Amino acid sequence: MKIKSAEFVISNSRVDKCPNSKLPEYAFIGRSNVGKSSLINMLTGRKTLAKTSAKPGKTQLINHFLINKNWHLVDLPGYGYAKVSKSTKRTFQKFITAYFDKRKQMICAFVLIDSRHEPQPIDMEFMQWLGENNVPFCIIFTKADKMKPKALERNINNYQDKMLEIWEEMPEFFVSSATAKLGQDEILDYIDAINDE
Ligand code: GTP
Ligand code: MG
Repeated sequence: MKIKSAEFVISNSRVDKCPNSKLPEYAFIGRSNVGKSSLINMLTGRKTLAKTSAKPGKTQLINHFLINKNWHLVDLPGYGYAKVSKSTKRTFQKFITAYFDKRKQMICAFVLIDSRHEPQPIDMEFMQWLGENNVPFCIIFTKADKMKPKALERNINNYQDKMLEIWEEMPEFFVSSATAKLGQDEILDYIDAINDE
């Protein structure tokens, strides 16, 4: 898919104030600082569309972007940083869970995982929560530029093993780097294929 236009639409913390639109939407979610906003800028080829920061907790609201005038891309705040989201309590920020509960036009959530780390309980619990709530999701392993190929492969294999303890199969997954522009075609083509169905 070629990105012909990418426009900011609205930011808010209330699901009922999200755009009143039937357009399909795709949400980017994951731990704070995993690279959600940077990935959105890389995917859309717009350097400053979504606000990024080296400090975790930059994105605080639900941000809608209209892409090619026919689908929405959504940048969400990170989980696992604020005190409200202790992994053991399954308390992800309330409006994140409300978003996934209520937003029926949400077609697929992309759960971003930092490719440098071992599987983390909060990510596993978040994906388990998505599964229990019938929210379709894929995984994107981010910051691949920071890893040597062998180590990257080992970490992804580890993840696969851990996921297979919970699910029958590994969800669809992608490898990305915002700095090295890796994963752009694969992720956009995946979205394109679903939009065409
Ligand atoms: P919150 O909005 O705070 O939840 O963070 P986020 O997940 O949106 O992360 P953001 O895109 O703001 O990036 C966090 C930091 O990681 C920034 O310093 C980025 O420059 C850096 N970063 C993001 N993606 C990549 C990547 O692919 N490679 C490298 N090397 N750094 C990255
Ligand atoms: Mg962000």
